[in-house]
Amino acid sequence: MRVLSGTKPTGEMLHLGNYFGALRQFVALQEKYDDALYFIADYHSMTSVRDGALRRRYTEAVALDYLGAGLDPQKAILFRQSDIPEVTELTWILTSVTPMGMLERAHAYKAAMDRGEAVDHGLFTYPVLMAADILLYHADVVPVGQDQKQHIEMTRDMAQRFNHAYDCEALVLPEPYTLDDTAVVPGTDGRKMSKSYDNTIQMFAAKKPLKKSVMGIVTDSTPVEEPKEPTGPLFDLWRLFADQAESEALATRARAGGLGYGDVKKELLEKILDHFGPMRERRDHYAGRPDEVEDILRQGAVRARAIAEPVLERCREAAGLGEPG
Ligand code: ADP
Ligand code: TRP
Repeated sequence: MRVLSGTKPTGEMLHLGNYFGALRQFVALQEKYDDALYFIADYHSMTSVRDGALRRRYTEAVALDYLGAGLDPQKAILFRQSDIPEVTELTWILTSVTPMGMLERAHAYKAAMDRGEAVDHGLFTYPVLMAADILLYHADVVPVGQDQKQHIEMTRDMAQRFNHAYDCEALVLPEPYTLDDTAVVPGTDGRKMSKSYDNTIQMFAAKKPLKKSVMGIVTDSTPVEEPKEPTGPLFDLWRLFADQAESEALATRARAGGLGYGDVKKELLEKILDHFGPMRERRDHYAGRPDEVEDILRQGAVRARAIAEPVLERCREAAGLGEPG
């Protein structure tokens, strides 16, 4: 069984939503599956990042976040999406079995249209490239946040349509993998944590900026001594770092009165620093060794291509493309 997932390089650092919604599962699953592939979706970032130097920087940042969070090149194939340009050929092949209506229903496209943005073809075709990412490597399981589940459904649909159209079994249908308790991580303003809302708490931020983000989490104006219901973004974030018993204890303290939001924020700050401390050290280690990181990605690409080539060849053969076999 094979697990695969990817992350778009669109920022300096991943945030708690990316970690709890995606990356944490990546790390756990590299232990569980025979093969694990995790890539940096730099082609995908082209729909929003229009600066080559910046893309390289963000790509390196995701590589460091991956390694820092505990993805291990001995256990997982870590690679850059664009090192395997074959994925764009499979994208083209899949576009011809993808109904327009399916892409018109895609959340990201619909949201951009609703915002009145000028949508380019790359954004419209985004789900097809994502399907190609998954199908090219015969992935069985794809860990993603809730918001990406729709893309996995579309991927299954495209695979089925291709196999049916060409009467073959060249493509394998993947399963999404999401955890219930990681539904949606709230941002500091209570909306979904997202770069686009500027409400993120970064995983590896230094103590000072981290403190600033945590202190900025919105709360109501209930005075310290009043009882409080343990709901809202502050408590939700706190609970991400706690087990059941700790969460219950916090609820009891909140309902008893005398617990200020400021205290909960201080505890949350400590929890974040403790949780990510060892990971930050590992990230720093790699940040000081860019050649080593580059080497890991290149070796990853060699291994990824070895998986991709025969799959693409089967698709080409089934579709009657290229030299007859
Ligand atoms: P952003 O919204 O900040 O641009 P991305 O869309 O790049 O984040 O998300 C990358 C991965 O992290 C996806 O798998 C997504 O589902 C997950 N993710 C992002 N934000 C959250 C969140 N607030 N809660 C849970 N998962 C999230
Ligand atoms: N679209 C995903 C995101 O925004 C990133 C991604 C690209 C991906 N290709 C993928 C995730 C393939 C899983 C599998 O988070």
